[in-house]
Amino acid sequence: DWTMAEFRKTKIAEIRAQVGDGKVICGLSGGVDSAVAAVLIHEAIGDQLTCVFVDHGLMRLGEAEQVVGLFRNHYNIPLVHKDVSALFLGGLAGVTDPEAKRKFIGKTFIDVFEEEARAIGGADFLAQGTLYPDVIESVSFTGGPSVTIKSHHNVGGLPERMNMQLVEPLRELFKDEVRELGRELGLPDVFVGRHPFPGPGLAIRIPGEVSRERCDILRKADAIYLEEIRNAGLYDAIWQAFAVLLPVKTVGVMGDGRTYDNVCALRAVTSTDGMTADIYPFDAAFLSRVATRIINEVKGINRVVYDYTSKPPGTIEWE
Ligand code: XMP
Repeated sequence: DWTMAEFRKTKIAEIRAQVGDGKVICGLSGGVDSAVAAVLIHEAIGDQLTCVFVDHGLMRLGEAEQVVGLFRNHYNIPLVHKDVSALFLGGLAGVTDPEAKRKFIGKTFIDVFEEEARAIGGADFLAQGTLYPDVIESVSFTGGPSVTIKSHHNVGGLPERMNMQLVEPLRELFKDEVRELGRELGLPDVFVGRHPFPGPGLAIRIPGEVSRERCDILRKADAIYLEEIRNAGLYDAIWQAFAVLLPVKTVGVMGDGRTYDNVCALRAVTSTDGMTADIYPFDAAFLSRVATRIINEVKGINRVVYDYTSKPPGTIEWE
């Protein structure tokens, strides 16, 4: 009889055996996977672990604060919080190609992470929250005649460069199992139940050029959408829901004036592993309530549309 409590015990023993008295560094992304990996590893080896949160400024509303609070206050796990939003947003100026955005963000993330790893005097191991589907997907991306759909954000290359070995305690798990393990480790339910969030963050939910101003507009719209989803009791029935800020302006009317502002698209999908997905069939009243709130409350958006594309042929993220 296999339970998460046993998995936890087994993994802790494995981590101790692998790491010995070596030093481990773990990059937190703000997501569930890296947080669960970090908490598990911390339980195994305590302060041989250093967590680094590279804050690229492309997180959702209040998210960076939540991660920092969770680690420092709830778990008392030491955390280096590196606010490098200016570096990321500066580098993204003028970049509109989706792969160029992904590559810039991935590379800059590694540069900052490497600098921090050196600042703490280096590490023998790099911890990652790699899941089973990540293992599969990267295999299908590199093997055979398949093409790269999107270059995924990870710290590939860094372990060799810094002569570190990988510690990946979640490699056999699917997302729902990681959540179960997270609960087993005492992570708060709101955190564990969170929808997945991509490494490149809001940059890939802002087609066209990314700016701090556009991130702020998107953060507000996204927060309203998620608040309505939670209020309607739908959050846990959905794999991922988010707003996308389109690089398109359309004409509208507000009061007796003309508006000319951005379009916001809403996306929500059901899925079990992110590899295929179906759209979530909201009822019309829900969608019109969200649209009205976003248009009334978010300066810069005057039109809201709903994305009706499954995966395939669409991907979940827009870039
Ligand atoms: P797509 O858009 O490829 O996304 O259908 C599938 C799932 O993966 C997430 N995603 C990412 N996660 N780094 C990540 O850690 C990335 O670069 C990345 N790109 C997409 C996406 O949010 C969805 O859950």
